[in-house]
Amino acid sequence: MNRRTFLLGSAAMAGTTCLANTFQGRASPITYDMTIQPAIYQFGAQTTHGLVSLSPDAPPPVIYGKQGVPLCLAVTNSMPDYTAMHWHGMRIDNQMDGVPYLTQLPMGQNDQFVYEFTPPDAGTYWYHPHCMTMSQMAHGLTGALIIEEANAPEFDADQVVNLRDFRLNDDGSLLPSYTARGAARAGTFGNVQTANWYRSPSYDHPCGGLVRLRVLNTDTTRIYKLHLDTTDARIIAWDGHPTDLNLPLPTPEEPLLLGPGQRVDFAVQMPSGEGESITLMAKFPGVAARPMAQLRAVGNDLRRDLRDLPRLPANPVSMPDLSTAQPHEFIFGWSPEGTAPNDGYCGSLGYTFWSINRTPWSGDAAKGTGPLATLEHGRSYILRLRNESPNLHPIHLHGLAFVPLRSNLRQLPALFTDTLLLLKDEIVDIALVADNPGDWAFHCHVIEHQKTGLAGYISVV
Ligand code: C2O
Ligand code: CU
Ligand code: CU
Repeated sequence: MNRRTFLLGSAAMAGTTCLANTFQGRASPITYDMTIQPAIYQFGAQTTHGLVSLSPDAPPPVIYGKQGVPLCLAVTNSMPDYTAMHWHGMRIDNQMDGVPYLTQLPMGQNDQFVYEFTPPDAGTYWYHPHCMTMSQMAHGLTGALIIEEANAPEFDADQVVNLRDFRLNDDGSLLPSYTARGAARAGTFGNVQTANWYRSPSYDHPCGGLVRLRVLNTDTTRIYKLHLDTTDARIIAWDGHPTDLNLPLPTPEEPLLLGPGQRVDFAVQMPSGEGESITLMAKFPGVAARPMAQLRAVGNDLRRDLRDLPRLPANPVSMPDLSTAQPHEFIFGWSPEGTAPNDGYCGSLGYTFWSINRTPWSGDAAKGTGPLATLEHGRSYILRLRNESPNLHPIHLHGLAFVPLRSNLRQLPALFTDTLLLLKDEIVDIALVADNPGDWAFHCHVIEHQKTGLAGYISVV
């Protein structure tokens, strides 16, 4: 009996709180107690009911952990829907990955699941549910998970900007979070763009200071096209992992494409004049670029210099050995007709439109669905990702970091990532070391694609 069959038939893991655990001989954990609950919020003049967050009237908070220090996240579900929480980008134990039926049973109402792990990597990560993913994410449950470096370079401030849309009627009520038409195409777009649940917020930071600006796209659909209205900035990390410092800065003409699930960290040099500001701009179809968030300079000029900033310390990710790497191919495309979705307790959109290797993922609780590939623990692999559809897909792999090697369409930067935005007609080779055993979800992060077939998992044994 494999673990998947076992999980399907076993009882939920009994909840033990963080406090009840002892961490003998180890650093004491950073703990968070969180309850998934209904929320009410005012985006503008109107009040929106029916949101999902970790507090009754605010966005999900930024969770702060430290590289190499145990983190204990006790999650309680107060909603009538089933759920499970996933820590996007974390290379942790498979049992802590929060994927229903694959790594744990979904949590029913009043169930608690204690997620305990020691983050191996520093950087900008995030969390979101992986059961009722469509409705709970669309209704607000997406938050930043920041893992601080054991030895961080000195910034004067840290600013998280969590970009996402909401779909609202004029009276503030929620529109349906997806449409069948959208699910079969690029996804269903929101109509209210927010940063940390505000429309174009402004944040004060010291004049002449160095700010670490962490931008996250936690939207269910939208690919953000971003630039900063300054050249006094550098990209320092991508999807959590440090980059070299010569990546070109995006411009209005060539904005940075940040797909759902992706993150980018900028080092920004604040203007020296009090009241001057730097703006994160986003381009939307058919309109001029709009401000998403502003950094406003205040106080005495700190006179920092961007050029003095060292590269962030590298995370302990293994470099794949390309000379021994075995190939695997994955084709992302339409789904064959007539596959009925089956989703257990984690919410189904009622359609299958998409597939990986011509097999649509038929739902989280589907029995008898094997892995898309089985990788041998410790070996290197090259995965060929082939997009046979006219839509873009941010392809995300849990539990492992990978290196984009080459594309048939563009130059790819050398970095480690967990989510790759696959363009129309693109074929990308990525490489990784299968150094984390378990069943790792592998899917498109346009949630309507994920929930209508463009999902599966890769086993590392
Ligand atoms: Cu960000 Cu499978 O998830
Ligand atoms: Cu993930
Ligand atoms: Cu997709």
